[in-house]
Order: sequence, then structure tokens, then C-alpha cells
Amino acid sequence: MIFDILTLFPEMFFSPLEESILGKARQEGLITVNLFNIRDYAEGKHRVTDDEPYGGGTGMIMKPEPIIRGIKAIQSDHPEARVILMTPQGNPLRQEVVRRLAHLSHLCLVCGKYEGVDERVREFVDEEISIGDYVLNGGEPAALVMIDAIARLIPGVLGNEGASEDDSFAQGLLEYPQYTRPRDFEGMSVPEVLLSGDHQAIERWRRREALRRTWERRPDLLAGAELSEEDQEILNEIRRSSGIA
Ligand code: ADE
Repeated sequence: MIFDILTLFPEMFFSPLEESILGKARQEGLITVNLFNIRDYAEGKHRVTDDEPYGGGTGMIMKPEPIIRGIKAIQSDHPEARVILMTPQGNPLRQEVVRRLAHLSHLCLVCGKYEGVDERVREFVDEEISIGDYVLNGGEPAALVMIDAIARLIPGVLGNEGASEDDSFAQGLLEYPQYTRPRDFEGMSVPEVLLSGDHQAIERWRRREALRRTWERRPDLLAGAELSEEDQEILNEIRRSSGIA
């Protein structure tokens, strides 16, 4: 997967892309991240990339020409690249969106700054994505979130194939509780079933706890989750035992 990033602050990407799983994925050639400075597509001695808003108001707006020139330059080499503008006005990033994008071969992520980009840039992007209902100073942290979430679905990126499919959200549920040594810690012990070696019992317990946790913390997710009849029965039981039938 190739990620081409259009940004005014390429250095913001350096360290996060060197560390941990993303660093290794890049070294192994499983992902490629190319950084393009929007300023390089600006004209004039000062290579100005922003200007005052028409109609007045505070803050500066990113000019359309440098961004659109950058997008066109990337597209002329890679017409297949899907162009995504990072913006709080975009489609919310959810695991299903991540899954869809992970099947593509080439993404071009455009990072705007929070005051905004000229509206005409929108005509040149394929979609707009927000990573949440809060405002960042710019799209750079959002682009990093996208790279991270997408990369871990690319085969080979996680050493342990298929681990990502076990994760929170993979089946629309939150993850079950996890434990490691020590068995007892400050009076809190690991649930017996996890020590039993009974894999079926462990799977059942994990499914029940994932359902319970989702019901308690994010009941909104249950509507979109893949639930079997047995899951529905477990949920009914959880509701009954909590006193909410
Ligand atoms: N740029 C500023 N805030 C953002 C957000 N929440 N998501 C994506 N891009 C952004």
C-alpha cells in the first residue's frame, strides 16, 4: 500500500513512521509513505500557501492552487490513487471504512489546517474523512491515525496473521478483558476459566465478556454487530441479570 501525504508539516510524520509496527512495515516494504510538502507547489518568491478569508473573519485559509497542483502531480503518476481530505467535516472513520480503504493500493491523504481550506479543493478529492468530533490543529495527526489503522490490516504487517481480526471492532464488538502474569495482583485474580486450559470454555467466556462490555459501554455498536442466535441469548441473559430485561 502506498500512502502519499500532502502536508505543510512533513516533519510531523518522521518519528511516528519510524517506530514500532509502522517502522517495521515500512522497512519490510509492506507500506510506503511518501511525504509531499504543499509549499513546494506554491508559487512566488515566498511560496505563500494561505490567505485571508473572503467575507472577513479570523484565521487564514489554505489557498486552492498549491493543494490542487499537488493532487494533480500525484494523480498524473498514479491515476488510481484515491484522494482523501482529512477534515472534521468528513465521513467519520470507523473500522468498516478502514477495512474498505485497506483493500486499495494507493491513497493520497491531504492534510488541511484547522481554519480551513478553500472550498474549491473539495472538487478534487474523492472523499473526506474525520477521525472524530473534535478539532485538531491540522489533518496531520488524523492522517497518521489513518495510516496506523489501515496498515495493521495489510497482510504481513502484524507478525501474527489474523490477530487484527480478533480485535475490538473486528466483529463490531469491544474486546474482551485480557490478563497476563501475575495470577494475583493486589487482591485481584485472573478469572479461573482462563487458567483451565479448556479452549471452548475460554472462547465462550470471551464472547460473553465482549458482549457484556459492548452492551455496558457502547450499546450503539450492537445494532451493527454480527450476532448469532446464541449471542442474542447471551445478551438477553446479561440484560436480565443486570435487572434491565
Ligand atoms: N483536521 C482537523 N480536525 C480533524 C479531524 N477531527 N479529523 C480529520 N481531520 C481533521
